[in-house]
Amino acid sequence: MKLFSSLALLGSIVSETLGHSLASRDDSVGFDPVCGSVVSSEAMDLSRSRTEQLRRNFRRDPEDIYQGPIQTYWHVLYANETDDGGYIQPEYISAQMDILNADFGPSGFSFELRNVSYLQNAPAWQLLNLTDANTVPDILAPNRVGDYRTLNIFTASAISTGGTANQTTIGVASFPNFDDAPFPELNSSVFVVHWSLPNNAGAKIPILPASSDYTFLGKNLVHEVGHWTGLYHTFQPNLTTQAECDPVNDQVNDTPAHIYIRELNSGNSSISCDVMPDTCPDIPGLDPIHNYMNYIVDKCRFEFSPGQIARQHEQMYLYRGVQAEGYNGPEDVGY
Ligand SMILES: *[C@@H]1O[C@H](CO)[C@@H](O)[C@H](O)[C@H]1NC(C)=O
Ligand SMILES: *[C@@H]1O[C@H](CO)[C@@H](O)[C@H](O)[C@H]1NC(C)=O
Ligand SMILES: *[C@@H]1O[C@H](CO)[C@@H](O)[C@H](O)[C@H]1NC(C)=O
Ligand SMILES: *[C@@H]1O[C@H](CO)[C@@H](O)[C@H](O)[C@H]1NC(C)=O
Ligand SMILES: *[C@@H]1O[C@H](CO)[C@@H](O)[C@H](O)[C@H]1NC(C)=O
Ligand SMILES: *[C@@H]1O[C@H](CO)[C@@H](O)[C@H](O)[C@H]1NC(C)=O
Ligand SMILES: *[C@@H]1O[C@H](CO)[C@@H](O)[C@H](O)[C@H]1NC(C)=O
Repeated sequence: MKLFSSLALLGSIVSETLGHSLASRDDSVGFDPVCGSVVSSEAMDLSRSRTEQLRRNFRRDPEDIYQGPIQTYWHVLYANETDDGGYIQPEYISAQMDILNADFGPSGFSFELRNVSYLQNAPAWQLLNLTDANTVPDILAPNRVGDYRTLNIFTASAISTGGTANQTTIGVASFPNFDDAPFPELNSSVFVVHWSLPNNAGAKIPILPASSDYTFLGKNLVHEVGHWTGLYHTFQPNLTTQAECDPVNDQVNDTPAHIYIRELNSGNSSISCDVMPDTCPDIPGLDPIHNYMNYIVDKCRFEFSPGQIARQHEQMYLYRGVQAEGYNGPEDVGY
C-alpha cells in the first residue's frame, strides 16, 4: 500500500478503486470493470502547474526528441497454458495491436511490437497484485525493457489495485508526467487483464455469468495507453453528483464534464451508443459516451477528441520526448 500511496501523492498513478463511489448503481448487474488510474484533483492541479512550467522552460536536445513508432514490449504473465490461465495465443495479441494502431491513427502515434515474452510462474502470477511490495522487484523490474518512451504492456488474468467487491480492475497505467516517480520500473508500463483483449482472448470473462454474450473489443488497452499518453478519465475529477459537475474536469475543453453511468459499463450488449445522456446539464455539451477515456461498453468507444489529441501531443513531447506525426512543439493554447 505504501508504494502506491506515495505515487498517488506525486500525482501520477493512483491505484485506488476503494472509495471510488459511483453514480447510478445498478446492482442487478454484478459487473463494473474499472481502471486503476484514478487521480485526485490535488494531483491534477500539481501536474498541471508542472506542465505549465515545463512548457515555458522547455529545453531538450533536439537529438533527444524521438519520432517514429513507439517501441512496444508485451509481457504475458500466465499461470498455465490455457485461455483462462492467462496464456494468450499470438493471434489475439496481433489483433489487439491492430486495434491500438487503428485507434491511435488520428493521434499520430503508432506502436511497433518488438517482442512478446511469456512468463509463467504459477500460482504466484495468477494475480498481478500491484499493491504488493514484491511485485516491482520480482515481476516488473526484471522484465520491463527500454526507457521512458518505450511502452511495456503486462497482461495477467487478474490485476489488483486494492479495489472493492464488484469493481474489478481491468487496467492500470502510469501517466507521462511521472518525473518524480520513486519507482521508475513502473514509468513506462501499462497493465490490462488478458480477457479484455479482442474476443476476450478466447477466455471466459470471470466477472460475467457464462450466459452473457458480451465481448471485449480491445478498447481497454486503448484506454490505458490513453493514460500513458497523458489523458485523464472524461468524468474526472471523480464526479458522482450533479453538484460536483466541474467545467475543468479532465483539463480538456472539448470533453464535457459528466457523471459515470454504471449501466453503460455493465457488459450489456443491448446498450445503445446513439442515446447521448447529459448528466451535467448546467455544463455545455452531452456526455462523451463515444470517448475511449470514458467507462462504457467497448462497442461505444471509438474516439479521442481533438482536445485530447492536442494534450497527448504535448504531454508525450514534454515528458517522454516523443514527437507525434504532425506536431510542431509546445504552444500555450490549452486543450
Ligand atoms: C455486487 O453484485 C451482486 C450481484 O451480482 C449484488 O447482489 C451485490 O449487492 C453487489 N455488491 C455491491 C457492494 O455492490
Ligand atoms: C472519489 O469520490 C469519493 C466520494 O466522494 C471519495 O470518497 C473518494 O475519495 C474520491 N476519490 C478520489 C480519487 O478523489
Ligand atoms: C489454469 O489456470 C486457471 C486460472 O487460474 C485455473 O482456473 C485452471 O484450473 C488452470 N487449469 C489447469 C489445467 O491447470
Ligand atoms: C523476447 O521474448 C522471448 C520469448 O518469450 C524471451 O525469451 C526474451 O527474453 C524476450 N526478449 C526481450 C528483450 O524481452
Ligand atoms: C495484495 O497485496 C497486499 C500487500 O501484500 C495485500 O494486503 C492484499 O491482500 C493483496 N491483494 C490481493 C487481492 O491478494
Ligand atoms: C523514470 O522516470 C525518471 C524520471 O524522469 C527517470 O529518471 C527514469 O530513468 C525513468 N525510468 C525508466 C525506466 O524509464
Ligand atoms: C440491457 O439494455 C437494454 C437496452 O437499454 C435494456 O432494455 C435491458 O433491460 C438491459 N439489460 C439488463 C440486464 O440490464
